[in-house]
Amino acid sequence: MEKRQKNIAVCFPFKKEDVNVFARNIKEALSHERVKDVLLAGHSENETYKGIKAFVDTLSEDERSRIHIFTQKRIGSKRPGKGDGMNTAIEYFVKNTDAEYLHFYDADIKSFNKSWIDRVQKRLDDGYDVARCFYPRAYTDAMVTWNITRTGFAYTWPETILPDIEQPLGGELGMTREITQKLIVDSLVRDASDWSIDTALTIAFARYHVKLYEVYIKEGKDHKLYGKLSDLETMAVECFNIIKENKGLKIDTSGMVYEKDRVELVPAEYKTRVAFDIEGSIKEFKEGWSQEMMEIVKRYFPEHISQKVFDAVHGADYTFMDIDMWYEVYDVLMEKFDFNIKAWRRVLFKLWVLRVLNHAEIAIHDPDRALEILHRMIKFFRSRRLSKV
Ligand code: DGY
Repeated sequence: MEKRQKNIAVCFPFKKEDVNVFARNIKEALSHERVKDVLLAGHSENETYKGIKAFVDTLSEDERSRIHIFTQKRIGSKRPGKGDGMNTAIEYFVKNTDAEYLHFYDADIKSFNKSWIDRVQKRLDDGYDVARCFYPRAYTDAMVTWNITRTGFAYTWPETILPDIEQPLGGELGMTREITQKLIVDSLVRDASDWSIDTALTIAFARYHVKLYEVYIKEGKDHKLYGKLSDLETMAVECFNIIKENKGLKIDTSGMVYEKDRVELVPAEYKTRVAFDIEGSIKEFKEGWSQEMMEIVKRYFPEHISQKVFDAVHGADYTFMDIDMWYEVYDVLMEKFDFNIKAWRRVLFKLWVLRVLNHAEIAIHDPDRALEILHRMIKFFRSRRLSKV
């Protein structure tokens, strides 16, 4: 068989990682017959960076010549985070390589292997501009995805395909060089230096009317999970904020091709696996309420909600935030939330925790029903907004 042309660059953005897992993933990418370059975009010259550099020194000369390791530049105006890393890598790819396709994978995935590259690349070879992965996830996982991002898309752009995208925050995706050339001059994307980058990219793809394919990776993404919900506080707030900031943006996806793999059966273990420490999260919800936060809740939210929130801080009922109430909360947040005020950021996080606790309570007893409610929530947000516009 004819040897395939090496025309893919694979990038792993990284911060603090298990060097052994990461090194294995680099090896895996290097061993793919079509991978020309491997870009390693580090947050800073930290321990992981040094460990990976030492690992690169042990590789053969050919392998070393295909590795590009660098630290991220300061590109956006938001917190310097994952977005600066991805944007630095996209710019590096455009300016310093001549591969035709750029793929991104998280560095910490234990189940990553080179067949993932094939599965993403197959769709790009078929003519899609962007292919992104989605996975079976624990029914109590993906709580930012469901309750912040997909709901936010349904609220803000109900007539588009955006709310239907399975995992808009996923970090595993591939794209053509043409798309990367658009991204390096797209101010919305360039500015998204923090966790908002995945949302910014998703919005950008919709605005470019890309041909998009979502690839189902059925074996799942075996990676670091989190402990308490507070591990996701910054992410939840930053992901909400970019939607609110762009709520005036007109997006029309009627000219867009969007397809995804069908999910036949979700493996049983995902239904019952609890993705975070519920007790610890309840404790965290109750702690750290400042006077200013209380005032925000009292002043801006309907009384039937604020009263329940205050009761939950001292009492035992913290599972009341159902999808109807979440819509009311979302409505207020879209209008009044102010990212520059710390108390607002904390209030958003606390209310999201209540939403997650309501879902988790159902998921523990009846996972299928809980998943069905998540889907219903997206439909509900969409139809409420469609009836308004
Ligand atoms: C999400 O919600 O998708 C985040 O990755 C946390 O699980």
